[in-house]
Amino acid sequence: MIPRDGALTSLWQGTTAREKESLTGNRISLEDQQYDVVIVGGGITGLTTGLRLQEAGFKCAILEANTLCFGTTGGTTAHLNTVLDTPYPTIIKNFNKATAQSVADAAKAAIRLVRSNIDKYNIACGFEMATAYMFSQSEDQTKELDAIYEASRDLGIDIAYTNQIPAELKMSKAVAIKGQAKFHPTRYVMGLAAAFQSLDGRIIEHCRVTGAENEDPIKVHTEQGDIRCTYLIYATHIPSGLNITMDTRCAPYRSYAMAVTLKGEYPDGLIYDMYDPYHYYRTQSIDGRSYFIAGGEDHKTGHVENTQSCFLKLEAHIRAHFKVVDIAYKWSSQYFEPVDGLPYIGHLPGQPGNMLVATGFGGNGMIYSAVAALTFQEMILREPEKFAPVFNPNRLKPIAGFSNFVKENADVMKKWIGKLLPSDKLASFSDLAPGEGKVVKVEGDTIALYKDEQGELHALSPTCTHMGCHVTWNTMEKSWDCPCHGARYSADGVVLTGPADRSLENIDVRSLVEG
Ligand code: FES
Repeated sequence: MIPRDGALTSLWQGTTAREKESLTGNRISLEDQQYDVVIVGGGITGLTTGLRLQEAGFKCAILEANTLCFGTTGGTTAHLNTVLDTPYPTIIKNFNKATAQSVADAAKAAIRLVRSNIDKYNIACGFEMATAYMFSQSEDQTKELDAIYEASRDLGIDIAYTNQIPAELKMSKAVAIKGQAKFHPTRYVMGLAAAFQSLDGRIIEHCRVTGAENEDPIKVHTEQGDIRCTYLIYATHIPSGLNITMDTRCAPYRSYAMAVTLKGEYPDGLIYDMYDPYHYYRTQSIDGRSYFIAGGEDHKTGHVENTQSCFLKLEAHIRAHFKVVDIAYKWSSQYFEPVDGLPYIGHLPGQPGNMLVATGFGGNGMIYSAVAALTFQEMILREPEKFAPVFNPNRLKPIAGFSNFVKENADVMKKWIGKLLPSDKLASFSDLAPGEGKVVKVEGDTIALYKDEQGELHALSPTCTHMGCHVTWNTMEKSWDCPCHGARYSADGVVLTGPADRSLENIDVRSLVEG
C-alpha cells in the first residue's frame, strides 16, 4: 500500500507495494548540489521524463513533496487512448488540422513509449493493448460521434463503426478504436523509479520545493535546502507558489471512480459514453483478480461539498447497467483542464530560460505524461521539434472570466495569531459528526472547523495560502479543497496538492474554548 492525497484508498495504491524502502526519508546531501535536470513531482510525468533524460546521459534528480504517486497518478483510472477528451474536431476548430495531426501523432508515440519502457525494463504492470468503444445515446451525441469518427479517421487513427460494444448499454451508434492500451499505473511508475535509480538517477521524497531563482545555473529552494541545476521541470500540475499565467489557464476538476467485482463476464476494452461529464469503464486484472473500473460524475474542485452524493450517483449508474457483486475500492482524483483544450508543455511563461512546465492534461494524464517526456527530450536534447511548438505554454491567450472567478473568491489574508473567539459560539458547532468538517461563521469571522474521530475540534483559517480563496470541505476525501487553482489540504491543514506550498493557518482551539 502506498500513500495518496485523500482519505479513500484507490485500487492502485491498495495493490502497490513499496519495494524500495531506500526511497523513503531521503535527505538532500552534499552530493546533491548540482544537477543537469531537477524535476519537481514524483508522479508519472516526473518519472517518465526523468528516466528519458537519465537514459540520454543527463544527471537528473526528482524531488517529491510527499511520496511517489501521492498525487493524481495514484488516483487515475489509467486509460491509454488516442481519441482524447478534447475531440479532434474541437482541436481543428480551435487550432488547425496540422495541430490535430500532431496531437494524434503524439498520442500514438506516447503509447509506444509506455510499451517500450515496460519491455525494456521488464515492468510487471498488467499492460495490455485494447480496443476502445465510444457510443452515442441521442441524436446530438450521434452527430458528435460522426464528427469524431471523420476527423479521427482523417488523422490516421484506426477507427471504424461497430454494431456491438462489449457491455449491455443502450446505444444509438458506436465506434471501435484500435491501438489503445491499459495498465496498472502505480506499478508502472514504481518500475520506472527502479530503472531510473539503476541508471544513477536520484529520487528525494519528502522534499517540497518552495521556489526557484532563474539564475545560471537555476537555484531551486526546497524545505531541505537549495539545489542548483541547468534545467528545472515542474511536473506538479500547477507550479507551487505564484505563477499567475498558469494559475489562470488551468481549472481544477475532480473525478470519481469505483473498482467493483462483477457476476459473470467482465467487459473487454475501454468504453466511453458521450455525456458531459462522460462515464468511462474498463477492466483490469491484478494478481489473478478482475476489477471492473467505472468513473465519472466530474465537477470543478471545491464546488460540491457533499462528495458522497457523487459516489452515490456513480454507484447507482454502475448497478443499473452491470451485475455488481461488491465494491472493492472507491476514490476520487484531481485533474486540470486547460482553457483551450490542449496541455501546456514547455517554457514556463514569464520565465525565459530553462524553467519548464507540464500541466493542463485534462483527463488524459497517462497519455500526456509520456508526451511531456518526449517534448522535454526534444527541447533539452535540441532535437528537431515535432511536439514542442504544439504544446508551447506561451501560445496562451487570455480567457475572460476565469481570473474574475479567482478575484471574487479571494479573501484578504487574515492573520489569526493571538486571536480568541468566544467558546459559546464554537459550541454551537458541536453537532459536527466525528470526521466531519465545515466552513462556519463565528462572530463575523469565517473559520474552517474539523472534528476528528476522537471528537476533538480543530480550527483553521479557511484562506488558501496560495492566493487567498476560501477552501471548502470535501466530505469523502476528508480534505479542504480550494476552488480557485485546486490546492488541497488535509483535515489538519497540511498541503496535499499544490500550487499552495504552506499549510492553512492553525487557530488554537483551546484558546477558543477558553476564550
Ligand atoms: Fe490558488 Fe487556492 S487561491 S489554489
